[in-house]
Amino acid sequence: MKLLVTGGLGFIGSNFIRHILGSRKDAKIVNLDLQTYAGNPANLADLASDPRYRWVKGDIADPKIVDKCMTAGIDAVVHFAAETHVDRSILDAAVFLRTNVIGTQVLLDAALKYKVSRFIHVSTDEVYGSVPKGFSKEGDALEPNSPYAASKAASDLLVRSYFVTHKAPVIVTRASNNFGPFQFPEKALPLMITNWIDGLPFPRYGDGKQVRDWLYVLDHARAISLVLDKGVVGEIYNIGGIEHCENNELIETVRGIMGKPKDLVWEVPDRPGHDRRYAIDCGKLKKLGFKHAFKFSQALEQTVRWYQQNEDWWRPLRSDASYKAYYIEQYRSRLASGVSTGRK
Ligand code: DAU
Repeated sequence: MKLLVTGGLGFIGSNFIRHILGSRKDAKIVNLDLQTYAGNPANLADLASDPRYRWVKGDIADPKIVDKCMTAGIDAVVHFAAETHVDRSILDAAVFLRTNVIGTQVLLDAALKYKVSRFIHVSTDEVYGSVPKGFSKEGDALEPNSPYAASKAASDLLVRSYFVTHKAPVIVTRASNNFGPFQFPEKALPLMITNWIDGLPFPRYGDGKQVRDWLYVLDHARAISLVLDKGVVGEIYNIGGIEHCENNELIETVRGIMGKPKDLVWEVPDRPGHDRRYAIDCGKLKKLGFKHAFKFSQALEQTVRWYQQNEDWWRPLRSDASYKAYYIEQYRSRLASGVSTGRK
């Protein structure tokens, strides 16, 4: 099987590629990735000399490069490439629309032209919006609240339209919050771990009572692999996690694992439009035969250890000037001046 994976230098895409090449001897992968700030060749350094793997540097919104990749006899597309960080989409939505919507359209057109047999569009539970009670099902209304979530909802609807109009062999997956190795340290968990390793606070947004459903990234990779084989074309599959908890509980658990003091959690102003709770019903995926393979406490502890043991991976990312200004220097100077809370 020859796969075109998009965004394979990112966190989830790179874990997926390693999982597929490790579990399917016949698999070959072309990875189309632009190498934005979140795409890192070091995530797949171990595969650099694997003849079954090839990275093509390019933009999914560029029809020429997409056409070139698709001509190579691709059986299926697994589309991860996306701008994914909610806070960035609040500051500037433009790149989210270009990559997440236009990029998806360019890929869909090429997949139709070259008659690929499967197109898995990797999406998110954020498209359902905040769910005060119960669990979102695949047919529920989409009520995205951040520009990021709105761009993913738009791409999900575009994928649906290609199924209805063109009979494109598409499947959409919607996953909850992923965690694990190689996650860029702007997301809550790796930011918390790397800040604490450096003796800096974790900026908790608002009261910390927001609820998230934590999915270990290798379970996510396993679920997509299953959907690739057994998913029904035209369908949507929720992929939920192994621990449903408030941010405060997550913070306390990680603080316990790392042995850090309470005063390294600072309350800062809440994220605008911050979704209070995500929760998805995964019954449909389970009917395909999916079972989680990882336990939350072990996977979380392993993730913390991974960041502790792989400073050479994340230190270069944290030395980027804009990252430093936003995530590090303001906290260093506040710590030095004795001011212990609030974000600039
Ligand atoms: O639910 C799936 C989604 O999970 C993915 O589609 C998104 O791409 C991914 O970014 C993630 O969205 P969240 O906004 O839930 O993830 P994030 O890691 O940014 O934040 C997790 C929770 O922690 C959320 O309630 C916001 C809070 N948070 C986050 C950061 C970065 C803080 O309290 N402080 C922080 O500094």
